[in-house]
Amino acid sequence: MISEQIKENDLIYLVYDNRRKWLLTIKKGEIFHTNRGYIEFNDLIGKPFGSVVFSKPFHTQGYKFYVLKPLPSDYILHMARKTQIIYPEDAGLILLYGGISSGSKVIEAGCGSGALTCILGNYIRPDGHVYSFDIRDSSLKRTNKNVKKAQLEEYVTIKKADILNEDLNLQEIDSIILDIPQPWEAIEKVKEYLKLSGILVSFSPTIEQVKKTTFKLQKNGFFDINTYELIKRTMQVKENATRPQVRMIGHTGYLTFGRKIKNLKNPYRGKKPNSNEYISMNGMPLRE
Ligand SMILES: C[S@@+](CC[C@H](N)C(=O)[O-])C[C@H]1O[C@@H](n2cnc3c(N)ncnc32)[C@H](O)[C@@H]1O
Repeated sequence: MISEQIKENDLIYLVYDNRRKWLLTIKKGEIFHTNRGYIEFNDLIGKPFGSVVFSKPFHTQGYKFYVLKPLPSDYILHMARKTQIIYPEDAGLILLYGGISSGSKVIEAGCGSGALTCILGNYIRPDGHVYSFDIRDSSLKRTNKNVKKAQLEEYVTIKKADILNEDLNLQEIDSIILDIPQPWEAIEKVKEYLKLSGILVSFSPTIEQVKKTTFKLQKNGFFDINTYELIKRTMQVKENATRPQVRMIGHTGYLTFGRKIKNLKNPYRGKKPNSNEYISMNGMPLRE
């Protein structure tokens, strides 16, 4: 396989060490300055992703930087944010259990800082679409900026709307993701946008929210309703000192999933045959 070469307008993930990492767009003639020297983008164009470069000026003898192709999880952790974002491990489960893949049509509310928006946009392309809604102008502005930086504008529509009360005029949606304080209040309205067997996903930090959401999903005929919490532990690997790292994020939130179904009352119930009636092969009463 041929390694992909860096071109103008590509997004790169420039890494110096664990703390100093940047998501940058390559522009001809531009220079990126750090406290470990500067890097000229012209020197990167034509090199394969996965290269190392040494910063200038040469009299410092250069510092080593790694030039990587950004992963969707890199967008999330390095984007401008003000709201709590969906972390990569939770996003992974949302994609998998939310049935989201290339070609999916997805609704998301609220978009907050656009972290999940970028993940979704990355996975539904080239034929799918993400419709992202929020009630706050500041969230819409930040999401727009982050989606643009991730070069995903083509696959994402960002609009101001209150998911609880406004009609979104969307239909046959594959998955809906709610990351709002009161997801249970949205369920009755948003289920109309979902196609049958489509998935509703709700992210909530507290169990009180999960209970209200689950009961509302049950009331609205959703099936296969489950809630999960993911806890990610990073391992420190050292000679004779391999163990989980001491510091970790202990809780992000709970993820609740449910599938929309077309429910029916059991037609056999209440039709118990009389003693002088026969039953057909499929269980329906037949008269003599
Ligand atoms: C925690 S943030 C979402 C973070 C986002 N998932 C991310 O990964 O960046 C919650 C957002 O929901 C928005 N919100 C709250 N109620 C809403 C509603 N009824 N309709 C649409 N958005 C709403 C808030 O303005 C806020 O920006």
